Amino acid sequence: MAEGRKKVTLGTLFDKMGNGEPITMLTCYDYPTACFMEEAGVDILLVGDSLGMTILGYDTTLPVTMEIMIPHAQAVRRGSPSAWLVGDMPYMSYQPSIETAIRNAGRFMAEAGCDSIKLEGGAVVADRVNAIAGMGIPVMGHLGLTPQSATALGGFRVQGRSAAQAKQIVDDAKALEDAGVFAILLEMVPARVCKIIQERCSVPVISLGSGADADGQLLIFHDMFGLYPKFTPKMARVYGNAGQVILDGVKQYVTDVTTRDFPQRENWFTMRNSAFEELLETLE
Ligand code: KIV
Repeated sequence: MAEGRKKVTLGTLFDKMGNGEPITMLTCYDYPTACFMEEAGVDILLVGDSLGMTILGYDTTLPVTMEIMIPHAQAVRRGSPSAWLVGDMPYMSYQPSIETAIRNAGRFMAEAGCDSIKLEGGAVVADRVNAIAGMGIPVMGHLGLTPQSATALGGFRVQGRSAAQAKQIVDDAKALEDAGVFAILLEMVPARVCKIIQERCSVPVISLGSGADADGQLLIFHDMFGLYPKFTPKMARVYGNAGQVILDGVKQYVTDVTTRDFPQRENWFTMRNSAFEELLETLE
């Protein structure tokens, strides 16, 4: 645990919401990044199934399975013991039945040390939310652009721009709250719709591209640092171009090896003359 840092609990998150102090949330998929996020004091880490795209290079999140998610969640927990850790339920890990949903949510808790899980959808998954939360597993809801349904939603685009669509999202937020979520993530919803939901909700509302009137903000780590080669979405703020740093470094390495500039004396290991001579004798 980073020095001076306390474990983030549900109490911490609700206190922040109550005091009007923004909650910080980032996606995180691996140990070294989790170590940085632990040190920086990020409140919530989401091991998102977006790793299917950002880490594994798929075009969608649909091929991601529990077997893929669990080792990533374990690595993030090792790197960040104190953040509130959310395991993202991958496609078909909760849709088939309530029993499937409880089993897989339980795996995130028991095998990876997560504090909670997240699943996508509104009223249609309220029975899953209610059952998982009823087993003592905190559940984060996810409305707006829900990537597992991107095809049905017309692609990766803003949701809730028409009055009817917006009303559906507001109603879904209420259904999730009634079902027992501890927080609701709104992805790519108009800022004015996010504000309405935040004002009506008794649990923290987290925005991903849904404006400033939320209790917290989420960004996808790879979008913040130029690490997703295909595109950077409008909702991201870029904090540095680590992708360019890596590309420049790898190009330099290729040049250095090709021109025999690498390795140098400081990069290899020596042995004593006596041991070397003894070796030569054994080889003769
Ligand atoms: O998988 C993920 O990272 C997510 C975010 C896009 C909210 O669900």
